[in-house]
Parts: sequence; structure tokens; C-alpha cells
Amino acid sequence: MKTLLVGATGLLGPEICKRLAAAGHQVRALIRPTADASKREALVGLGVELVSGDLKDAGSLARACNGVQAVISTASSTLSRQPGDSIETVDEQGQLALVEAARNADVDQFVFVSFRENPRIQFPLTIAKRAVERALKSSGMAYTILQASYFMEVWLTPALGFDAANGKVRVYGDGSRPISWISCWDVARAAAAAVTEGSARHMVVELGAPQALSPLEVVRMFEAAGAGEITTESIPEEALEAQLQSADDSLQKSFAGLMLQYAAGDVIDTTVSSRLFTVQMSTVRDFIATQLAAARG
Ligand SMILES: NC(=O)c1ccc[n+]([C@@H]2O[C@H](COP(=O)([O-])OP(=O)(O)OC[C@H]3O[C@@H](n4cnc5c(N)ncnc54)[C@H](OP(=O)(O)O)[C@@H]3O)[C@@H](O)[C@H]2O)c1
Repeated sequence: MKTLLVGATGLLGPEICKRLAAAGHQVRALIRPTADASKREALVGLGVELVSGDLKDAGSLARACNGVQAVISTASSTLSRQPGDSIETVDEQGQLALVEAARNADVDQFVFVSFRENPRIQFPLTIAKRAVERALKSSGMAYTILQASYFMEVWLTPALGFDAANGKVRVYGDGSRPISWISCWDVARAAAAAVTEGSARHMVVELGAPQALSPLEVVRMFEAAGAGEITTESIPEEALEAQLQSADDSLQKSFAGLMLQYAAGDVIDTTVSSRLFTVQMSTVRDFIATQLAAARG
């Protein structure tokens, strides 16, 4: 069984490759010529076959899909972009072209990493995700759409202003609405299991940790775990709404939309995912312990 992974050089990709390889699956990764050399080497070390390509190059997608039984796509232009990349060219048209290439190559299963829609908050990235989800559902392939909540390793870290270990955090909105924060490693595990265990075929699965917590509850938990007193800055929803309306760039609009969606809360019903992916999910408490241990050296 051979799986094509698109997004192998991102946060989730290497972990998905490791899990597929450990289960005895062959893995092919679509890699851009600009990809980081150490990330390429690490993939080669895992036995991954590298093929050159880009989501904006339909010919490369056809070559990459040839002879694989499954495709997993985690790729996105939100954090890792090259000239010509945008939400429209990569997350929408590129992913749609990948679905088409997979369908033409008679791929059996397609796993797509996405997030839930909040119908009240529309922005380019959510519009792109919905377009790809619709294309997958009508493609005839066994689709697995993983709608993950906010990744702890991204949204509860200094990268997005949440620097609990240094006593300063930024929250979006008033910080009172609960979110089913999930570890990115659990999302990677679910994506790999969807292929190796054939779980969740023809399904949209919402993924989140079992306990939903508000950002302010997470702050209190960091303090109780020994982070010391934390100062919280809140970005008002009105400011995020203004950014969403006034930004002329689809990436800035999308960041504002994601922050507004966070401010509105994102509680996931984990009944289905816990039945499908039986290993216990990491909790925010686990994440806090790891973060504080790393900060203490
Ligand atoms: N962060 C969250 O809280 C969250 C929550 C729910 C869902 N998600 C979804 O989870 C996925 C994020 O995964 P991640 O964190 O692993 O992403 P990431 O670290 O930002 O990596 C993005 C990957 O996409 C590749 N890529 C970008 N543009 C490409 C193009 N034009 N052609 C081919 N590959 C391209 C990048 O390749 P290069 O290395 O060559 O740039 C990289 O491998 C996204 O789909 C996101 O929407 C995220």
C-alpha cells in the first residue's frame, strides 16, 4: 500500500510519515524544490520516496498520484509560502487540483486535514476548505475529512502571543469561550490511522481533546502548574471584525477569521472520534507540563 503525502515538510507531515512507515506502508511525499534540506533528509531517513512538485502545478500532481492508493493532504499556504502562493492558489485551487488528480489516478482514499466551519464567520481559508470538502464528497473516493480544533502547539505558544512561561499571554476576544484544543500529534496520528486502519472512510470527523477549556481557564491552569502570575492582553472581537472587513489580503483576512472563530469558542463533540481513534488524546494539562518543563530546561 502506497500513500502520497502533500505537506510532508510541515508540522504534521513528518509525524504522519513516521506513523505510516512504522505500520509498514510505503510513503511518497510531494516536495517543493524550495523545501528545507534538513527536512528532506529526515524524510529520506524514514524511507520516504520524494517526488518534486507543487500544488500549483497540476502536471506534478498527476505524476505524484500515479500508482498510489491513498492521498493525505495537510498542505496550506498560511504559514509556509513561496512567491505565487496564496489561499486562493494553494488552499483552494491547488487542493482542488489535487483532488482531481487523485480521482483521475483511481486513488481509493483521500484524507484531508481541515477545520470546522462557523457559518457566521466567513473568510478565504474557510471558503477554500469548504470547496475542497465538497469536491471530495462528490469525488467517488473514500474521503476522510478531519476537522480539527485549534492546535495547542500553535495557539497556546509564543508564536501566537501565548507566552505563558514568560508570564504574558494574548487571547483573542474576551477569552471566556471554550475551545477543544488538540495536540497536533493527535491530528497526525488520526490522519495516519485513517489510512493504516481504514478508519473513517466516507466520513467527516471532528477532532478535539475531550475537555473544552476557555483561554482564560488555560491561563489559570498554567499559573496553578507553576508558571507564576500571567498578564493577559485581550484583542477585542470588534478589532478582529474590523481587520476581517478591512484587510485586502486573503491571508490577513483568514488570520482575522480564525481568531474570530477562536473568540466565538470551538467545542467539539468527541463521541465519534473517540470511537474511531481509540488511543487516549493528549490533554491541555499534559501540554502545560511539557511546556513548563521545557522552559525550565
Ligand atoms: N494550526 C491549527 O490550529 C489548525 C487547526 C485545524 C486544522 N489545521 C490544518 O492543518 C494543516 C496544517 O498542517 P501543518 O501545521 O503541518 O502545516 P504547516 O506546518 O504550515 O506546513 C504546510 C505544508 O504545506 C506545504 N505547502 C505549502 N504550499 C504548498 C504548495 N504550493 N505546494 C505544495 N506544498 C505546499 C509546505 O511545504 P514547504 O515546506 O515547501 O513550504 C508544508 O509542507 C492545514 O491544512 C491547516 O489548515 C490547522
